[in-house]
Amino acid sequence: MRILSGIQTSGELHIGNYFGAMRQHVAFQDTGEAIYFLADYHSMTSIRDAAERRRLAREIALDYLACGLDPERSILYRQSDLPEVCELSWILSTLTPMGLLERAHAYKDKVAQGLSADHGLFAYPVLMAADILIHNADVVPVGQDQKQHVEMTRDMAQRFNNTYGEVFTLPEPQIEEGVAVVPGVDGRKMSKTYGNTIRMFDPDKKIKKAVMSIVTDSKPVEDPKEFDANLFQLWRLFADAPECEDMKKRCAAGGLGYGEVKKDLLGRLLAYFEPMRARRAEFEKRPDDVEAILADGAQRARATAEPVMAAARAAAGLGPSG
Ligand code: ADP
Ligand code: TRP
Repeated sequence: MRILSGIQTSGELHIGNYFGAMRQHVAFQDTGEAIYFLADYHSMTSIRDAAERRRLAREIALDYLACGLDPERSILYRQSDLPEVCELSWILSTLTPMGLLERAHAYKDKVAQGLSADHGLFAYPVLMAADILIHNADVVPVGQDQKQHVEMTRDMAQRFNNTYGEVFTLPEPQIEEGVAVVPGVDGRKMSKTYGNTIRMFDPDKKIKKAVMSIVTDSKPVEDPKEFDANLFQLWRLFADAPECEDMKKRCAAGGLGYGEVKKDLLGRLLAYFEPMRARRAEFEKRPDDVEAILADGAQRARATAEPVMAAARAAAGLGPSG
């Protein structure tokens, strides 16, 4: 089974990315052939600073390695080191109805906010489909918000196969059960766009500040608390089932202060990420090794992509006749 996923390199990662995407990426290494990439072409729809793009790709490579991605067991590469995806993206775009892309949420949301979108953002799902199909991936682990894109990918694969013959595998999205959406400190979805994130690789002081800023209602300590509140949803990420049951009872009983829960959450969060933070610090000291991991990843990614790309070109009648 081939597993593939990517993370857009458009900002520093936060615990929403970790629980919604990265944690399962790392777990999948034991299930099959895992391929992950740093989506720097996709970052071009929002980042226009070249140095910043390079920096973020490096940071996210470090994050992946720190979180347990093992380059011996899986492939980690930078999207732009496999420029063939742009060719496949073009091929797929000629089979993709405008109406399908008009329904894609990244584009639709931007237009709904009254902002003007460029063609790159409009075509974003086609490039994402190319990322997936170029490796003929079977499973794509992503957060809930990316499910639509994987469904569009299936649609594009099917259109290609129907038009030119069977080349592409139809991928299945794999959404982490239980952790659908991690809320941010303000209660909306945690997202770098909203500036409401908690970033596991920030210095302790910044993490503390973020945790202490989690918005709560103003109920006094003695009142019962809503276990569904944002603060407890975050706390639950770091607690096991019996601890959750216990906390639920304490909420219902009253006498529990939000400050106490925040302190406990901070302690749990720091302890949880401590080994990953230590590993990241180690990799930070070895930038050449990280570059070498990405170069090796690009080479291995090319080896899986090349036969698929050759089959697609041949099926579509591109290049010299065989
Ligand atoms: P952001 O919203 O911060 O820009 P991205 O859209 O780059 O994050 O998401 C990268 C990955 O992390 C995606 O697979 C996405 O589904 C997942 N993800 C992002 N934010 C969350 C969240 N708050 N909860 C769960 N998963 C998330
Ligand atoms: N769009 C994804 C995100 O925002 C990143 C991505 C690009 C991706 N190409 C992909 C994810 C292919 C899975 C498969 O996070």
